[in-house]
Amino acid sequence: MKNKKKIIKIAIDSPAAAGAGTVAKKISKHFNLLYLDTGKIYRLLAFYKLKNEKKFKNTFIRKKIGKLKIKDLQGKYLLSDKIGIEASIIAKNKNIRKIVHNFQLRCAYKFPKKFNGSCLDGRDITYKIVPDADFKFFITASTKVRAKRRFKELKKLGRKIAYNDVFKSIKKRDYRDYNRRFSPLKKTSDSILINTSNLTKKACFFKIKKIIETKQKKNGNI
Ligand code: C5P
Repeated sequence: MKNKKKIIKIAIDSPAAAGAGTVAKKISKHFNLLYLDTGKIYRLLAFYKLKNEKKFKNTFIRKKIGKLKIKDLQGKYLLSDKIGIEASIIAKNKNIRKIVHNFQLRCAYKFPKKFNGSCLDGRDITYKIVPDADFKFFITASTKVRAKRRFKELKKLGRKIAYNDVFKSIKKRDYRDYNRRFSPLKKTSDSILINTSNLTKKACFFKIKKIIETKQKKNGNI
């Protein structure tokens, strides 16, 4: 009898610029998982809102999300600070979160057969979107480290921005994300804490890879 493929689902929550996206992408590639950066969905919606606020109604949002493909979320234009701030305002809206929910579920549970599972990162993934994930991580770093990283990233993209403004905007977003009423950012008790303040990207990748492989070995999955 053919061996049934063991599916793995990874859920990651993290505050802005903690390095979750970078490591999630690497881990997904390594374990052949479908990767979804859920923040990009809110960023894309923020882009639409900034482009035409009058048009930005539930029916419009539903239509856009209904047709959404992961490849639509890859544009560098979504990385700006302005869009990040607007995304965190949009993300407080319960109706918008509901619309986005189904798309995330599809990615987490109904990924194409060529993948061995899924890996989603965001703010409410570990307890709302994929509560039954096989691996849950809360990835964080100090505000200063995160602001420095985001500043470098934005500079690399050629954006004219001051470090202090990046620092302030990260603090503002943290406040909104941790304190909102619906789906706030939090570390669940069953999530493994990874502090990346003093970790290189490589070290962070190996740390998470080891955690996954150790559990898989223990369960006899590899
Ligand atoms: O992860 P990123 O910084 O791109 O996310 C942009 C914003 O989208 C966050 O500040 C947060 O307010 C929102 N978001 C969310 N829930 C998620 C992912 C992102 O509320 N699952």
